[in-house]
Amino acid sequence: MADMSVVLSGIKLENPVIPASGCFGYGAEFKDFYDLNILGSFSFKGTTKEPRFGNPTPRVAECTGGILNSIGLQNPGIEAVINEELPRIAAFFKKPVIANIGGFSVDEFVYCAERLDGVEQVGIIEVNISCPNLHKGGVNFGSDPKAAAEVTAAVRKATGKPIYIKLSPNVTSITEIAKACEDAGADGLSLINTLLGMRIDIKSRKPLLANKMGGLSGRAIFPVALRMVYEVRKAVKIPIIGMGGVASAEDVIEMMMAGASAVQIGAENLRNPFACKEIIEDLPRVMAELGIERLRDIIGVA
Ligand code: FUM
Repeated sequence: MADMSVVLSGIKLENPVIPASGCFGYGAEFKDFYDLNILGSFSFKGTTKEPRFGNPTPRVAECTGGILNSIGLQNPGIEAVINEELPRIAAFFKKPVIANIGGFSVDEFVYCAERLDGVEQVGIIEVNISCPNLHKGGVNFGSDPKAAAEVTAAVRKATGKPIYIKLSPNVTSITEIAKACEDAGADGLSLINTLLGMRIDIKSRKPLLANKMGGLSGRAIFPVALRMVYEVRKAVKIPIIGMGGVASAEDVIEMMMAGASAVQIGAENLRNPFACKEIIEDLPRVMAELGIERLRDIIGVA
């Protein structure tokens, strides 16, 4: 039988398939489509210290091969997530979740990490220093190695849980930022977040998104994500969760060959809510075709 298991910082996942933050809410909207316990894990919506409505609408625009979003980290805030969302998740998901946190200052990241530290359901804290849709915070931390290291070191002190820093592709050298995070104590890295983009409504002659610009995700960005995972794999020793345009079992395998230890699926969940289920079910067939017995053996083979 195909062995699809992988390990992230001592946490064994049955398979490497993880719905990405921002495309799966807190799981509730997906739980009636299929039993979410078939997933390796899932990363919940980026959560901040205070509740946030997010950016003005319209804040999504379809593009060829993808979607542009400028959501602006809409979320109910860390207290509601701990007191309401996580107990709700516990009723339908029995595995450790990945808690994605965002912030507008180092203190806010630290606050969220401290609050999640004692929550048993949380396996990994994913630290989002790469949201392109905020006018402060977000990618401002993720585009400078010193700022990225500062957040990483502070969150490192705040929790004993594994911390994975989510990196932006909107930088000159993602390897420099990756190395800074590794040196500051990150247990792993998640990459890539969305690529900054824009659409214009040619009838109104105005940007389609109220925030003017947004992050591009979906199939169109897969080769860029793959290249960055490949580069970062060569630059650091810590595990990488690869993401960006992954939409099939073949993409998961390609991403792992580039160096990912696990793979997140984002925009494809919005196009097809069964995407992760179909990928998990298809992986054994693709593994057999390629002569792969243990999925973890292909990590970084390229
Ligand atoms: O705007 C958003 O909520 C997206 C967040 C992100 O891409 O990190």
